Amino acid sequence: MAEAIAIIFESAEGVRHEVAARLGASLMEAALMNNVPGIEAECGGSCICATCHVYCDQVADIVGAPSDEEDDMLDLAAADRRAASRLSCQIKVTSALAGAIIQLPARQY
Ligand code: FES
Repeated sequence: MAEAIAIIFESAEGVRHEVAARLGASLMEAALMNNVPGIEAECGGSCICATCHVYCDQVADIVGAPSDEEDDMLDLAAADRRAASRLSCQIKVTSALAGAIIQLPARQY
């Protein structure tokens, strides 16, 4: 079994960064470890900042809905929230996400 999968982070301007994301890490960690611009992750993954906001339209069925806690944080602090908004620190990298395109918002505040 592969230890990492390819994930593509796409900026609001359409610039793509393909990264090797370690299985079991969070999407936020995969972005930070690969220097993907646009993920701030100020709280380090504790679900209390919303600066790791992403759009998961292409994989909405796989990642599912946010928890109540995450949903509240998205409402409170995420800029430009959409139906498929998620906090990337709350999404675990699994093999089901291989090749996924994760879109980044134009801003994190
Ligand atoms: S890193 Fe702060 S909410 Fe995800």
